[in-house]
Amino acid sequence: MKKVRKAVIPAAGLGTRFLPVTKSMPKEMLPIIDVPVIHFVVTEALASGVEDIIIITGRGKRAIEDYFDDAPELEMHLSSNGKEKYLQLVQEISAMADLHYIRQKEPKGLGHAVLQAEKHISGEPFAVLLGDDIIRNDNPCTRQLININEERSASVIAVEEVPPEMVSNYGIISGREEAPSLYRIDDIVEKPPVGEAPSNTGAIGRYVFTPEIFDCLKETPTGVGGEVQLTDAIRLLKGRQPVYAYKFKGRRYDTGSALGYLEAIIDAALEKDGLREDLLRYMGEVMRR
Ligand code: UTP
Repeated sequence: MKKVRKAVIPAAGLGTRFLPVTKSMPKEMLPIIDVPVIHFVVTEALASGVEDIIIITGRGKRAIEDYFDDAPELEMHLSSNGKEKYLQLVQEISAMADLHYIRQKEPKGLGHAVLQAEKHISGEPFAVLLGDDIIRNDNPCTRQLININEERSASVIAVEEVPPEMVSNYGIISGREEAPSLYRIDDIVEKPPVGEAPSNTGAIGRYVFTPEIFDCLKETPTGVGGEVQLTDAIRLLKGRQPVYAYKFKGRRYDTGSALGYLEAIIDAALEKDGLREDLLRYMGEVMRR
């Protein structure tokens, strides 16, 4: 079995839940204080051992490419003004990784976005990290999935328990536990109505796939919301080969939702030198209101 060397980060969605700001700014570039969400996602992929990252972009997503690119004028300005600390910060970002960009001409869904990477992946297992989920853990979530892929030569998706009233926001799985926290998927349904979900175990934004997922994506018709759903392709795949779900270790922030975004910012602020005490004081004030 080949090793996972490549990762796809779909970031071409419209971000409608974050309008109006996403009218002119990709939601993947929303800042967690001073670092955009997608920076955390790229960092996770690299820390998991991925060497080659493909970001799926679309119209209005130029800011993502600019962020990871060299910035000669800015660097010159920082250098001539003696702002070495900032210069280093800016240079480190453009040196982080070898990134490739593929355009999804129309946002026809997450499944369609992943399919755009087929030629670049060329028959290897690969990781998918959604550009708006931050997951924190010493052993990165994607690495946890890669380890399972290497053990079982199979696709595996990260899942977590979601509140019952939230099941209709997720791809929901049912399956048999084959090892601690590891389930062989029997079924997976995209955004089931509350009360009809097979469980409350939901797929979050991390996956490792065998390359056969591409055939499944090509056969997947348009699904919920008029989009080609990755979940529907996984459903096809699990009929052809084992697909696993893993209750990952770590803390996830769904920064595509307002609450998840705020939680990510507050936790980042609590860890930032010089900000923690002031924030706690302010939060104490808020609680007394
Ligand atoms: P979401 O469904 O959360 O993103 O997709 P969205 O469509 O931008 O969000 P809303 O619902 O309109 O607010 C998860 C990830 O998949 C990407 C998104 O950019 C996001 O990172 N995506 C989604 C694509 O790349 N292409 C698509 O057609 C849809």
